[in-house]
Amino acid sequence: MKAIVATDQAAGTSGMKLVERPEPQAAINDVVVQIHASGFVPTEMAWPSTWTDRLDRDRTPSIPGHELAGVVTALGYGTTGLSVGQRVFGLTDWTRDGTLAEYAAVEARNLAPLPGDVDFTVGASLPISGLTAWQGLFQHGRLRAGQSVLAHGAAGAVGSMVTQLAREAGAYVIGTGRAADRQTALDFGAQEFVDLENDALEDVGGVDLVFDVIGGDIGKRSAGLIRAGGTVVSVVGPPETRPADGLAIDFVVESDRAQLGEVVQRVRDGRLRTNIGNVATLDEAVAALNPTDRVTGKTIIRMFGELSP
Ligand SMILES: NC(=O)c1ccc[n+]([C@@H]2O[C@H](COP(=O)([O-])OP(=O)(O)OC[C@H]3O[C@@H](n4cnc5c(N)ncnc54)[C@H](OP(=O)(O)O)[C@@H]3O)[C@@H](O)[C@H]2O)c1
Repeated sequence: MKAIVATDQAAGTSGMKLVERPEPQAAINDVVVQIHASGFVPTEMAWPSTWTDRLDRDRTPSIPGHELAGVVTALGYGTTGLSVGQRVFGLTDWTRDGTLAEYAAVEARNLAPLPGDVDFTVGASLPISGLTAWQGLFQHGRLRAGQSVLAHGAAGAVGSMVTQLAREAGAYVIGTGRAADRQTALDFGAQEFVDLENDALEDVGGVDLVFDVIGGDIGKRSAGLIRAGGTVVSVVGPPETRPADGLAIDFVVESDRAQLGEVVQRVRDGRLRTNIGNVATLDEAVAALNPTDRVTGKTIIRMFGELSP
């Protein structure tokens, strides 16, 4: 099969190559998926799991990408819940070969059925950003209607999902980002926007929940905005500064079939809009994942069926 591999950590995405690799086999409780579309998070090249397995052994050449939408082609020993020919989408294990390939072996529990009216490109754009937003807001942040949320990077992949899901849950949402992102963040439903390059973050006043996708100085300053009893939820590592009277939580997203179902149902009925930028074929993937200009929205790589739904 054709696959993108990474072998050189120092080279990052520029070291990716399109090569031939053996097709994966389904292990216990796995399925093999013929991948029609794959998502990619640009920071993957900095994740240890891209380079080593769970015992910290070198696993290069590794196939990056962890989001997929495709069709099940084989079942492993004992696999239940999915069948050959079924359309699926979901999130693959961080320490196994991923989704920038024509096929991937995935534990069935990490996938959910992809409804027939949802395009593979859309399906592949949802698992990481949708589940991260869902888990950060509702599981870890325990968001309730009437609370206020500071959604950092609100025009980005995770931030646009945070903004929309928080609004739908009845929260007041203040989005942040670069000056050029104002309209995009407002279009995703933010009621206010803080331009982090020109506005004073501190002018926001108090909020109940900060959803941090940026970290660093922005993360540190955000802790001071938390109202008593509020929460900082970080997906970029442990918050360096904790709120004086509140919680600080960092987490890594996990796949969850029921939550994938919640997210995709919202896309189907128009409550949730995807944030897809460039769509490229596997042959074009190395160039698409090494953009020379600023990229907005998620880059999706299409395999079978190329660029048609
Ligand atoms: N722990 C987890 O489970 C988990 C899950 C998903 C994502 N993540 C992490 O979350 C982060 C965001 O992921 P994503 O896919 O949402 O990325 P993304 O689509 O690039 O979104 C991030 C947004 O924030 C903006 N931004 C970043 N730094 C900024 C700054 N200093 N000032 C103003 N705006 C800034 C970005 O603008 P620019 O593009 O111009 O920088 C972009 O619009 C990544 O570090 C990713 O690894 C973690």
